[in-house]
Amino acid sequence: MEAANAADAVLEVEGLTKRFESGDQIIEAVRDVSLTLSRGEFTAVMGPSGSGKSTLLHLVAGLTRPDAGRVRIEGTDIFALSDYRRTVFRRERVGLIFQAFNLIPSLTAEENILLPLLLGKRDPVADEVERLISCLGLNDVRRRRPDSMSGGEQQRVAIARALATGPSLILADEPTGSLDTINGRKLCETFRRLCGGGRTAVLMVTHNPAVAFFAERIVFMRDGRVVCRVERREFPSVQDLSRYYVSLLESEPQEVAR
Ligand SMILES: Nc1ncnc2c1ncn2[C@@H]1O[C@H](COP(=O)(O)OP(=O)(O)O)[C@@H](O)[C@H]1O
Ligand SMILES: [Mg+2]
Repeated sequence: MEAANAADAVLEVEGLTKRFESGDQIIEAVRDVSLTLSRGEFTAVMGPSGSGKSTLLHLVAGLTRPDAGRVRIEGTDIFALSDYRRTVFRRERVGLIFQAFNLIPSLTAEENILLPLLLGKRDPVADEVERLISCLGLNDVRRRRPDSMSGGEQQRVAIARALATGPSLILADEPTGSLDTINGRKLCETFRRLCGGGRTAVLMVTHNPAVAFFAERIVFMRDGRVVCRVERREFPSVQDLSRYYVSLLESEPQEVAR
């Protein structure tokens, strides 16, 4: 795909690099990663454990500062903002679906979902909140607190909370990890619907080819690098995508794909 023109780009990542020191070792978790997401685009990131996927998402979310490179969200260089302004910016524009659900234990499911809207002093779009609660199958738990919900229910509440603000960019790290197949599919369909509206872009990490198959583009990471990018329509079936992924994992590390 052609690089999106800047006006259409929700996310522009350029030369992003992050190193961690661990004892006397330096781990390059993310190495010179560049990618662009236009409005309405749904991209999946696949890669083995330890390939840097979560670190990439934390960098893009502005939760971790890179050693090099830049992240622009709707044209704003997020690391040029003060910590406070970056936090507000994130709350207003970015929906985070990370592996820690971080629900507030004393609030019900519904209150957790509405919290970011209240913090941002924004009126909930009641229809959209109801739609999310219903699409994500949360009607029965809306008045319950997290400690009386299953892991999958908690994950779905965290998802509804991330989506209720109508973010421009959704960052999701293995969002179907605690979900059964049907709820996983519903979530992917929700991502598609939001992207189809043309306002939102989704960057989603997954190990699961059946989940990645919902995306339009798939970026493969290995050892901190993007090694390959494909259009999902190149693959007739999930099995084809799955075979391709396995062959990438089994091949020798490749040159960096740009
Ligand atoms: N906070 C950290 N401190 C030290 N090393 C880290 C930290 N976070 C991630 N790493 C290392 O960076 C590499 C990439 O990790 P991660 O981004 O979690 O990969 P993935 O999500 O693809 O499994 C791994 O080698 C991991 O051990
Ligand atoms: Mg991870």
